[in-house]
Amino acid sequence: MTTPWPYPRWIAHRGAGKLAPENTLAAFRLGAQYGYRMFECDAKLSRDGIPFLLHDSTLERTTDGTGTAGEFDFAELARRDAGSWHGRAWAGEPLPTLESVARYCLANHFFLNIEIKPTPGQELETGRVVAAQAAQLWAGAKVPPLLSSFRPESLAGAREAAPHVPRALLLDSLWEGCIEQARQLGCVALVCKYTLWDAALVARTHGLGMRALSYTVNDAAAADALLALGTDGLITDRVDLFSPAA
Ligand code: G3P
Ligand code: MG
Repeated sequence: MTTPWPYPRWIAHRGAGKLAPENTLAAFRLGAQYGYRMFECDAKLSRDGIPFLLHDSTLERTTDGTGTAGEFDFAELARRDAGSWHGRAWAGEPLPTLESVARYCLANHFFLNIEIKPTPGQELETGRVVAAQAAQLWAGAKVPPLLSSFRPESLAGAREAAPHVPRALLLDSLWEGCIEQARQLGCVALVCKYTLWDAALVARTHGLGMRALSYTVNDAAAADALLALGTDGLITDRVDLFSPAA
């Protein structure tokens, strides 16, 4: 039996998909304007151990900086412009700390899916620190954030630091033993690349008491098929296409 699921069905990928600079508070605000109440974001550690939002290991694609983000203290990362790459309207948008995003979500009663996206080599530590901070920030909140990761070591670190904060295993393929791994890590959900789902996998996942979520669903026919399969959540870039009330 699956346990009650407190999260909305629709989740805005990296804040507002591609409509705003990903993983910034500006993106969250735009996603919220489209009616979204749950957001996915990517979190990693600065050199001095501060969890902050960034998808890539390096700064080049989405900031005006260069190099491996995790090799800078957060005070240096805070000076980077994470908006201009997307357009002049977003110039000066900072890299947010996980703490600032948590405060935004808590104040607005929004839900958060924190993808633990470690700098390579920091899998266990990133899982530990992100989960510990999430537990602290959401202490006393009705619904905790959902922690997810492609990296089992990160989920193991998260479980060690904050066993009560729910975890999900991200899968871009059905690698040998992945479902057993999710079970061993006490995951409440599998978050699969959406093309992996079929009726048998949904039944197996639900039969094991886990929820079935998908990323990144940007196509209406694919979304209809996933909902018809009985899956539980869809992460999308297309906040402008899908109404989160559906
Ligand atoms: O968490 C789902 C999705 O964000 C995983 O892929 O590369 O967009 O972080 P990616
Ligand atoms: Mg992600």
